[in-house]
Amino acid sequence: VIEYVTDPTGVGPEQLRGFFVGWPKPPSPERHLEILRGGSHVVLARDGERVVGFVTAISDGVISAYIPLLEVVPEYQGRGIGAELVRRLLAQLGDLYMVDLCCDEDVVGFYERLGLHRWDAGMGLRNRDAL
Ligand SMILES: CC(C)(COP(=O)(O)OP(=O)(O)OC[C@H]1O[C@@H](n2cnc3c(N)ncnc32)[C@H](O)[C@@H]1OP(=O)(O)O)[C@@H](O)C(=O)NCCC(=O)NCCS
Repeated sequence: VIEYVTDPTGVGPEQLRGFFVGWPKPPSPERHLEILRGGSHVVLARDGERVVGFVTAISDGVISAYIPLLEVVPEYQGRGIGAELVRRLLAQLGDLYMVDLCCDEDVVGFYERLGLHRWDAGMGLRNRDAL
């Protein structure tokens, strides 16, 4: 049974295994925990003690939010967990005017099913030395 929680308090780095698949320099579990604590909103999916999925948002609390990270560990993908994480995060964000994210082409369909729309352009910087 998957449990969804909105507070990372009590989660330890040892519960954060298997994330950042394919990243050239994946953040350590300790940094992952800092990321979870640093977001304005977070939803975690847990199977017992293990965290098997997470999504974060950063919001000004007035009109806008950005969703930087969403991931379900590979062995738990395809069970509806990613969609449930996004639905619960959007419910937390409530009626904000803008909720934005950038993603790869292969997940556009996933987000469209959840009601998000493709924009013409997303712009960004990547400081790869910061990882
Ligand atoms: C994208 C991701 C979070 C999806 O999580 P998941 O738990 O496997 O997805 P779900 O099982 O909740 O899928 C929900 C629905 O979306 C569909 N779906 C899943 N991935 C999809 C994709 N890449 N494109 C289109 N539809 C997709 C599923 O078939 C499912 O459809 P259904 O409701 O008809 O059954 C997961 O594949 C992942 O962690 N990928 C690696 C990290 C990543 O790409 N994160 C997004 C960064 S912006």
